[in-house]
Amino acid sequence: MRKVYRGKDIEVSFDLDQCVHIGECLRGDTAVFQLKRRPWVLADEASAEVVAQVVERCPSGALQYRRLDGGPQEKVGPGTKVTPVRDGPLLVTGRIEVTREDGAVETMPRATLCRCGHSEHAPFCDNTHLSINFRAPGRPYKIHLSEVRVRLDRPITKTEDPRRID
Ligand code: SF4
Ligand code: FES
Repeated sequence: MRKVYRGKDIEVSFDLDQCVHIGECLRGDTAVFQLKRRPWVLADEASAEVVAQVVERCPSGALQYRRLDGGPQEKVGPGTKVTPVRDGPLLVTGRIEVTREDGAVETMPRATLCRCGHSEHAPFCDNTHLSINFRAPGRPYKIHLSEVRVRLDRPITKTEDPRRID
């Protein structure tokens, strides 16, 4: 479920089911994104430009933004780009329209889509590919350890992620 964190100039939203725990948010701006604070996102703690830049580095689309200050919204397209990550998901950018099981449609600018077939949050990757030792060719993707990625060998479950509570 997508949660919304509204600031004065920009609104940030987050869906834990889409997060692949890369931690770009936490590395990107420690004043805006803080795991030990509630709410964990305070959109007014940096300029709207900075918040937008950090959110655009979130590969999964778990984080999205909407500028409220008249500034530019995230550019989408014109085409859609698909990059397979070595031993992992498909990294997709562009205009991505996802239809959920219940028929709800979400349009996203970025997504990490499961290609191992074992994600519990399909069509999104939830890092289950790590537990099943999925192997497939693709672009190497550097994963840093962080507070939301404390190990590389298995996925972080939803209950282990501190952001499950607001
Ligand atoms: S995938 Fe999750 S941890 Fe990585 S930048 Fe996006 S929200 Fe943050
Ligand atoms: S590719 Fe990541 S869970 Fe399937």
